[in-house]
Amino acid sequence: MGIRFNQVSYDYSSFAQGLYTAIKDINLEITEKHEFIALVGHTGSGKSTLAKHMNALIFPSEGNLEIFGEVITAKRNKKIKYNNIRKKVGLVFQFPEYQLFEETVEKDIMFGPMNFKITQEEAKKIAKESLNLVGLNDSYLQRNPYNLSGGEKKRVSIAGILAMDPEILVLDEPTSGLDPAGKRVLMNLFKDINEKTGKTIVIITHDMDLVYQYFNRVLVMNEGRLIYDGDPEKLFREKDLFKNHLDYPNTIKVLKYLNETLNLNLNIYQKTLEAALSEIERVVKE
Ligand SMILES: Nc1ncnc2c1ncn2[C@@H]1O[C@H](COP(=O)(O)OP(=O)(O)OP(=O)(O)O)[C@@H](O)[C@H]1O
Ligand SMILES: [Mg+2]
Repeated sequence: MGIRFNQVSYDYSSFAQGLYTAIKDINLEITEKHEFIALVGHTGSGKSTLAKHMNALIFPSEGNLEIFGEVITAKRNKKIKYNNIRKKVGLVFQFPEYQLFEETVEKDIMFGPMNFKITQEEAKKIAKESLNLVGLNDSYLQRNPYNLSGGEKKRVSIAGILAMDPEILVLDEPTSGLDPAGKRVLMNLFKDINEKTGKTIVIITHDMDLVYQYFNRVLVMNEGRLIYDGDPEKLFREKDLFKNHLDYPNTIKVLKYLNETLNLNLNIYQKTLEAALSEIERVVKE
């Protein structure tokens, strides 16, 4: 089942600017089993707008969407339980401030689970476990989310969605603003959840190193259109990324530079720093 976009377009309407079409003619299928998908594209290309459709936070202006069998169109349908959709597809917002509103971290993370007829004690237990999963210890439980650092807020907002145990997770730039170690902790957590539970995870990111290292499917948005859906390897080998304002992973950039300036014959398609270094070692030793 999962999520299917059928010819979806979305227009923002604002008083000052009138209609602005943020995504156009999107056809896309995301199954609920075992996918690990990166969603990339330049600023303003429509990634967050696309993500907000995935749990029916906004409705398509044109076309329709199927989310776990429910058909979402421009018009609200009284028969559809939108809250159920939002439980099945958990969306972590790009800006955690929009997601955090309780006076303690614990209450914030408990909020979702408490809606699903469980006891306060159970919800507390889930809150603590989810918080620990994202790399924060129990001392954060009684803190006010408002006073946390940007990276801590981000982690708490992720914990809040993990606590709801959705079937599909959509994370809008979950690693932006985090330090390198924090990024790795979270990426390994997402990969782990994906591997152990088979849940599909969609991650929006600008970090092409992460895309190359972790993902086997990448979606590329450009000016509101989905222009690529497939293997990252193929994307980096065959497409002119700069044309779409995208960067190459650092490994490819550095190895390419070495080939050009030192006239070497390195295989530039290395996913990790370690792999790039051993490729350099191999060629130097030859
Ligand atoms: N509430 C809104 N009203 C009017 N226009 C909007 C609104 N939200 C977004 N837009 C416009 O829609 C386009 C797509 O925005 P969106 O937030 O989906 O981009 P994005 O790819 O997530 O960008 P970023 O990488 O900066 O997060 C942008 O041009 C943006 O200015
Ligand atoms: Mg965005």
